[in-house]
Amino acid sequence: MKTSELKLSRNYDRAAWFYEASSNLYSTGQIKVAKLSQLRFLKPGQSILYLGVGAGEDACEAAKLGLKVTCLDISQGMLSRLQRKLDRAGLSAELICGNAFDHCRYGEYDAVATNFFLNCFKRPMMLEMMQHALSLVRPGGRFFVADVSPPQGTWAGRAFNFAYSKWAMAMFWAMQLVPWHENYNYADELRQLGIQVDDVSNFRLAGIGPIMFQSVAATRPVSVSSSTVPRPHLSHSLAANSAADTVVSGENHVGLGRES
Ligand SMILES: C[S@@+](CC[C@H](N)C(=O)[O-])C[C@H]1O[C@@H](n2cnc3c(N)ncnc32)[C@H](O)[C@@H]1O
Repeated sequence: MKTSELKLSRNYDRAAWFYEASSNLYSTGQIKVAKLSQLRFLKPGQSILYLGVGAGEDACEAAKLGLKVTCLDISQGMLSRLQRKLDRAGLSAELICGNAFDHCRYGEYDAVATNFFLNCFKRPMMLEMMQHALSLVRPGGRFFVADVSPPQGTWAGRAFNFAYSKWAMAMFWAMQLVPWHENYNYADELRQLGIQVDDVSNFRLAGIGPIMFQSVAATRPVSVSSSTVPRPHLSHSLAANSAADTVVSGENHVGLGRES
């Protein structure tokens, strides 16, 4: 790994022990509910790639349902936690440590999930990563993103959404995990790329509060438009676009989960 990759991965390594627990506390469990809502679109035996999988509570549930799961993350610390979870549950998944931009299995997956991952990038690189993720989905397959919802609903609800999400972003920014960025409207971004959005589900804090989280499901067109064709592999500078500071590349297979 290059210096910037190491820096980013070390930042996430340090957060690995508390990341999932704190996000569930922060979201009153709704982050997990939003991520797991995607599984209703999939059938056992289908393949799914989780980009920026983190500690992988969603990937574990997918493996439990009999999906063929591949998990990619730049942080070995996150992947080690995921591997322990898989081992404890007697589940199997392919784990890959590396930069998502370097994963080039174009069109191979029935589904690709980018949960709370695209928000690791400023808008230009977020759009590139979204297109890259779409290019890994087979034509006709699914693309998922669960994340913070764009502000919506009543004036008070929008104000709460803005303040509550920026408070979390400030924490993550201070830990050099994410760059300061706007809250993205992924459904609109996908539509602008000519991608069919199949479902937008909203999730309220504590199930009854303001809308805070959203899960978007989309289908990659069977005939691929130029906007979703994989781009030539550029030097993806995380400098101005993420919490890292120079050019990154490279991926490593770190092991396979136990055969179930
Ligand atoms: C905000 S966390 C979300 C983790 C998980 N998807 C979840 O919902 O709990 C973002 C994850 O993306 C990973 N990540 C950030 N930049 C990456 C990159 N360029 N390539 C691969 N993984 C990356 C981080 O290590 C981290 O685990």
